[in-house]
Amino acid sequence: MDRFLTADDLDKALREDVRAGLTTDPKVLPPKWFYDERGSALFEEITRLPEYYPTRREREILTDQAAEIAALSGAETLLELGAGSGEKTRLLLDALSSAGTLREYVPVDVSGDFLAAAAGQIARDYPALTVRPVAADYEQHLHLLPAGRNRLVAFLGGTIGNMPPAARIGFLARLAATMSEGDALLLGVDLVKGEQRLVRAYDDAAGVTAEFNRNVLHVINRELAADFVPAAFEHVALWNAADEWIEMRLRSIMDQSVRIDRLDLEVGFAAGEEMRTEISAKFRPDRLTAELGAAGLFPAARWTDRAGDFSVVLARPV
Ligand code: AVJ
Repeated sequence: MDRFLTADDLDKALREDVRAGLTTDPKVLPPKWFYDERGSALFEEITRLPEYYPTRREREILTDQAAEIAALSGAETLLELGAGSGEKTRLLLDALSSAGTLREYVPVDVSGDFLAAAAGQIARDYPALTVRPVAADYEQHLHLLPAGRNRLVAFLGGTIGNMPPAARIGFLARLAATMSEGDALLLGVDLVKGEQRLVRAYDDAAGVTAEFNRNVLHVINRELAADFVPAAFEHVALWNAADEWIEMRLRSIMDQSVRIDRLDLEVGFAAGEEMRTEISAKFRPDRLTAELGAAGLFPAARWTDRAGDFSVVLARPV
């Protein structure tokens, strides 16, 4: 495994994010810290909730279009940013293997342990494939990822929506700069739709998303020796119509003070104070085309599920 990111790097990044985020006003935490083992399991549970449509819609698109995606891309390497649980990976690997071009699979994730397990399983199931996992942060290390001809870079699930607009255009531009002529980006994005469905997708009746949101507090407690009482924070999901993104927040239910030992930091929360923990941007096709263009990419093909909820785009460098 190639490692551009160690456990120490992650520890340092968490300390910096938490110190910066909790000493600014309004307070904010980046969503990347949701995903420890429990957070990843909670997210898996979210993807099966009746209200959370994106995973099902994207799976529908990939199931229906994998053969065409494979034919259009002619990929020799599938490079997957944020290697997920494996289901959509397999849809793509199966189609690319059938198309006869695929040689190599490069899963990229911040969690080395998770990667090693996932990559081992894929290597066993696809013996003809070279599997080369890379422990890296795709917001920092794009230029270090293996180059090559005819790469398909998959960034699925709508995760690009977690980045604010300037960050995602920067990300796309840095990615485009690493791409050569035969390369393509396969990007999954959630689409703008009615507010009620959007909010319900992030505030489910069973409370799984609320637990997922509060999980960041469990992570900080464990990793930074803090004493957050997660039950003292309420889950908030709202549609920000001006920015066209869903926001998740944690609202303090009372005046309270939290001690973060490893930062030697004491943080006060007022009753009702809200801390933003995630944005999940939703896209309109025209705006996505414009953002891709600003980054030096163009949509060579795009697909939508039958309900028109979600979109997968195959983009190429201009
Ligand atoms: C994994 C980032 C695509 O934004 O929809 C699910 C994470 N947050 N429910 C999303 C998430 C709350 C998810 N992504």
